[in-house]
Amino acid sequence: GKGGHRHFMAKEIFEQPQVIGDTLNAMFNPTERTITLPPLPFDPAAVPRITMIACGTASLAGMVGKYWLEQHAGIPVDWDLASEFRYRAPVMTEGGLAVFISQSGETADTLAALRYCKQKGQHCLAIVNSPESTIAREAHAVLPTLAGPEIGVASTKAFTTQLVVLACLTIALARARGTMDRATEARLSGALTEVPSRAAEVLNHDERIREIAQETFTPARDVLYLGRGTSYPLALEGALKLKEISYIHAEGYAAGEMKHGPIALIDETVPVVVIAPSDELFEKTASNVQEVVARGGKAVVFSDAAGVERLKHLALEAIALPAVDPFVAPILYAIPVQQLAYHTAVDKGTDVDQPRNLAKAVTVE
Ligand code: M6R
Repeated sequence: GKGGHRHFMAKEIFEQPQVIGDTLNAMFNPTERTITLPPLPFDPAAVPRITMIACGTASLAGMVGKYWLEQHAGIPVDWDLASEFRYRAPVMTEGGLAVFISQSGETADTLAALRYCKQKGQHCLAIVNSPESTIAREAHAVLPTLAGPEIGVASTKAFTTQLVVLACLTIALARARGTMDRATEARLSGALTEVPSRAAEVLNHDERIREIAQETFTPARDVLYLGRGTSYPLALEGALKLKEISYIHAEGYAAGEMKHGPIALIDETVPVVVIAPSDELFEKTASNVQEVVARGGKAVVFSDAAGVERLKHLALEAIALPAVDPFVAPILYAIPVQQLAYHTAVDKGTDVDQPRNLAKAVTVE
């Protein structure tokens, strides 16, 4: 059942504190404050490069993973959509690691990419939610997301648990490669263990987000989402979520790209969602908010108390999420963008769990 919620999507959004914790606990050692991956049939820390491959929301988890792995583990990471990857002629470094991310484990393009990578001598690691799936079976190794069954077509808890697994992979590889010291590992894994309770706090903003959805998003024809660094894939995810369930046209953009085109779209009819945790890129994103507002744009800012203080005079709405280590911000900031899409869709009266033209698993091209 829907556990008292109106839709599976709402139930699955609210399950996130629990399933994020479950997924983390499978790899976190609380006494040592270290992350331990299950035994793998290859050494993931010894690979010359990594390729992240997936579709849709899973691909956006992979993009966050790319940013994390490059920054903390110093490994070159390629990122690709499975549907593009499989029809290019991708050049693979022998002995590389290919990571496939999929909730269903049955996505046709992701599976085809996995088969290609096996032929090209890659170690194939699957991050999947369905342990009995084809991708789980055919990969050389699996890191499971423990999200439990996800029924709503819109991916929610699968995404945040994929991020948890990628964060753990990042920490484990960084330690093994000597790019992260013990103190940093303890700090980042400590930040991860706080995510379930911080996520529960985010869920408390549900009513406020519902009001914002109703007032500002339901009437909109186009919505823009902006972010930098690991908030850029979150902007893409926010836009994907909104369009697939509310049928409102939405685009995610790297905030620094605004001046290269999309700022021409801005006027008072276009809400602009800004994902801006306090991190080393915050001031840059803040100047983009300034530019949006100067052109009459309605900025809806997701940040923490410090960021809200800095931007509230500019923004139409500014929501203060709990302050967290920037490393774990993408996991937390996924939640309000899901809530925003959810409430807009409910308000528009669409079929939230089963949006038109979409299937839960895209098993044919
Ligand atoms: O089962 P998968 O994770 O491989 O599915 C990938 C995409 O089809 C999926 O994430 C899709 O983009 C979602 N409906 C987005 O909410």
